[in-house]
Amino acid sequence: MEISKPTSLMMMLFAIMLCFLQAKSQGVYCSNPYEQCFQKYIMCPQECPTTGAANSMNRVCYVDCSKPLCNSECRRLGPNCYHPATGCHDPGFIAGDGFVFYFHGKSNEHFSLVSDTDVQINARFTGHRPAGRSRDFTWIQALGLLFNSHNFSLEATKVATWADGIDHLRFSYDGQDLVIPEEILSRWYSPEKDIKIERATKMNSVTVTIKDKAEIMVNVVPVTREDDRIHKDHNYKVTSNDCFAHLEVKFRFLNLSPKVDGVLGRTYRPGFQKQAKRGVVTPMVGGEDNFRTSSLLSHDCKTCVFNGLSGSIRWETEHALLDCTRGASSGYGIICRKE
Ligand SMILES: *[C@@H]1O[C@H](CO)[C@@H](O)[C@H](O)[C@H]1NC(C)=O
Repeated sequence: MEISKPTSLMMMLFAIMLCFLQAKSQGVYCSNPYEQCFQKYIMCPQECPTTGAANSMNRVCYVDCSKPLCNSECRRLGPNCYHPATGCHDPGFIAGDGFVFYFHGKSNEHFSLVSDTDVQINARFTGHRPAGRSRDFTWIQALGLLFNSHNFSLEATKVATWADGIDHLRFSYDGQDLVIPEEILSRWYSPEKDIKIERATKMNSVTVTIKDKAEIMVNVVPVTREDDRIHKDHNYKVTSNDCFAHLEVKFRFLNLSPKVDGVLGRTYRPGFQKQAKRGVVTPMVGGEDNFRTSSLLSHDCKTCVFNGLSGSIRWETEHALLDCTRGASSGYGIICRKE
């Protein structure tokens, strides 16, 4: 039998169309047997079809194979500095309820951002003081985490000039340096799987998850002359021997106890008084002495409540965790908070 010309032409067109459709959306195969979605192939949403390249809204496809729903979502690359629970710039913090405040701290000192009975998150500030200014300009240079009798630190490496093709992150777990391959979504788990580090992009952007406690999105960025220009009122006057590579941080918390303290943590306390209207910047006055720790991995500040005990009281059940997960997947930037 002979196929007429118009039919074969149509079939060819159809085949081309199929190929085109298939190439359009990508997915992620979950290959880790320890994760919930093992052996599933999860398709990316149409709005952000690939994990590699950001769409026009600076979003990429994101799949967390350890989440119960096994679905994908579009995520912004790096933290959005205008969402709650962030610490950006000359650290401006946005609390869980949208309350904006500054905590300047001091250059080369350490402060407790979150101190709860079973988790402690500290920050080391970097910065400088241009001549004639009364205080340091500061940025977050490193984060130190204590949990389940383990410790973890993440630092922005100090460089004179910023180079785009270089990773400026350094990690350590229990005092040992960690090497995490520079690949999108490359992951590292602690032996007990209580902490996970995942690169969001090849370099300079990771998500740190402390199991059942917190998710921390981190970007490393330099202070640029552009910042200097935009923040005229600040006039950082960056020096030529240091670009002040620092961290932009966004937190999501699960299961914080009512005792939680720290610069950001205390804003999650049930009785925390709103000191300002939403979105209105109120510089935080003082308080430094209450939050200062003697090192990146110490919990010796005046208001620290971390007791270093592993397996301390669990505040919520699995259900609350699932609800939080669901909430976050519907739109990134939702704060999961025990009411
Ligand atoms: C981090 O953990 C390791 C291993 O438990 C320990 O030897 C080290 O002293 C800890 N570091 C700090 C600063 O607590």
